[in-house]
Amino acid sequence: MTENNIVIEPAHRIAAFKPYFFASLAKNISELKEKGIDVIRIDMGSPDLPPEDFIIDKLASAAKNKNAHGYTANGGTPAFRLAISNYYKRRFNVILDPATETLGLIGSKEGLFHLAQVLINPGDLVIIPDPGYPVYSASTKIAGGEIYTLPLRAENKFLPDLNEIPENIAKRAKLIWINYPNNPTGATADLSFFETIVDFALKHNIFIAHDAPYVDICFNDYIAPSILQIPEAKNISIEFNSLSKTYNMAGWRLGMAVGNKDVIKLIHTYKSQLDSSHFGPIMEAGIVAMEGDQTWLSKRNQVYEKRRDIVVKGLREVGFELNIPPAAIYVWAKLPQPFTDSYKFCADLLNETGVSTTPGDVYGNFGKGYIRISLGTETSKIEEAINRLRTWIKQ
Ligand SMILES: Cc1ncc(COP(=O)(O)O)c(C=O)c1O
Repeated sequence: MTENNIVIEPAHRIAAFKPYFFASLAKNISELKEKGIDVIRIDMGSPDLPPEDFIIDKLASAAKNKNAHGYTANGGTPAFRLAISNYYKRRFNVILDPATETLGLIGSKEGLFHLAQVLINPGDLVIIPDPGYPVYSASTKIAGGEIYTLPLRAENKFLPDLNEIPENIAKRAKLIWINYPNNPTGATADLSFFETIVDFALKHNIFIAHDAPYVDICFNDYIAPSILQIPEAKNISIEFNSLSKTYNMAGWRLGMAVGNKDVIKLIHTYKSQLDSSHFGPIMEAGIVAMEGDQTWLSKRNQVYEKRRDIVVKGLREVGFELNIPPAAIYVWAKLPQPFTDSYKFCADLLNETGVSTTPGDVYGNFGKGYIRISLGTETSKIEEAINRLRTWIKQ
C-alpha cells in the first residue's frame, strides 16, 4: 500500500516471485560492508578479468564514429550474425546460415527467457534440470507452463537420466532444458550424451534448449562440444551462447541463439516487439572478439584452473565432497558433517567471516546440502576466502 492508500495490484504472473537471489544478497552484503566487514564475494559468476585491450580499443574507436549512434538491426547487425556463424564454423565446425540460423541477443539471459514466451502456452510441460540456472523455471512459470523436474545427481556425473522420464511425461513435454558445461555443478557432457538426447527429443517431439555459455572455459585438454555437432540437432534444438564468459564481457550484454530456424524466427519476432537492438560499437567490438586473436583465452583459462585447484584442495581438506570440474567457473561442493542446511551455512559463513558463497538450493531442491563457489574473483582473494572458510569450519 502506498502513502495515499492506493493498492497496486501486481499481475498474477509476477506476484509470487521473490527478488532474484543475488539482488537480495547484494543488499545484505552492502549492510555488512557498512559495518566495516571485509566481504569477499565468491558467490556470483561474473568474471573479474577484463577482455583483451584490442576488444576495448575497438569499442572506443567505433564509438568515436559520429554515424554509429543510431538504432541498429534488431537481432544483431548482419556483420554480427556473420561473426557468430564464423565462430561456430571455427570452434565447432558447424555451418550456420547467418540470416536464418543465428540471432544476436542482449546477453543470452533474455533469449532463455523469450524461448518460453514463444513456445509455451499455459499448461504446457517443460522438463527442467535440478539443480539448474533459475531462468529456466522462472520463464516457464511466467509463461504459465508446468515444470517436470529432472534430477542431476552426483552418481550420474550430474547428467540427467532420460530413462527416468515417465512415458506420459515424455508424451506431454514440449521443451527440455540442458546446460553443459553446467552451472552450478561444473559437469560436462560429451557428444554421445548429445546424440542420446537428440534421439530422445526426435522420438517424443520435445524441443531441446541447450544453454552453453561456458563452452570456452575448459581446463587441461578438455574441449566442450556444441549440441549442433549432432547432424539432426538443428531439426529439434537451439543453443544459447554468450560472449559474457568466453571473452570476459558479462557487462557488455552480448549473446546469441543458434540452430533451428523456425524457433530463431519466433524469438526474433518476439524480440522485435520489445527491444530496439544493441549499441552498434558494442557489436563491432563483439565481432573483433570472436574473429580476432584467441590465444589469450588459454592463458585466461589457466588462471581459472589455478583458482579451481585452490578451492578444490581447501574444501577437500575440511571434508567437502566434490568432483573436480573440467570446465566452467564453479566448484559445486557437498557440505561436510554436521552441516546440512546450505542457506544457514552460507548465511553464517557470510556473517561470521565475510565470505559470500551461494547456497545450492538457489538452483533447486537437488541443490540442498551443496554450496557453489565461483572462480570469478581475484586469485589472492579466493585464497583468503578459502583460508577463512577452513579456519571457521575447524573452530
Ligand atoms: C547457465 C547460464 N546461462 C545463461 C547465463 C546468462 O549469461 P548472459 O550474460 O549471456 O546473459 C548465465 C550467467 O551466469 C549462466 O550461468
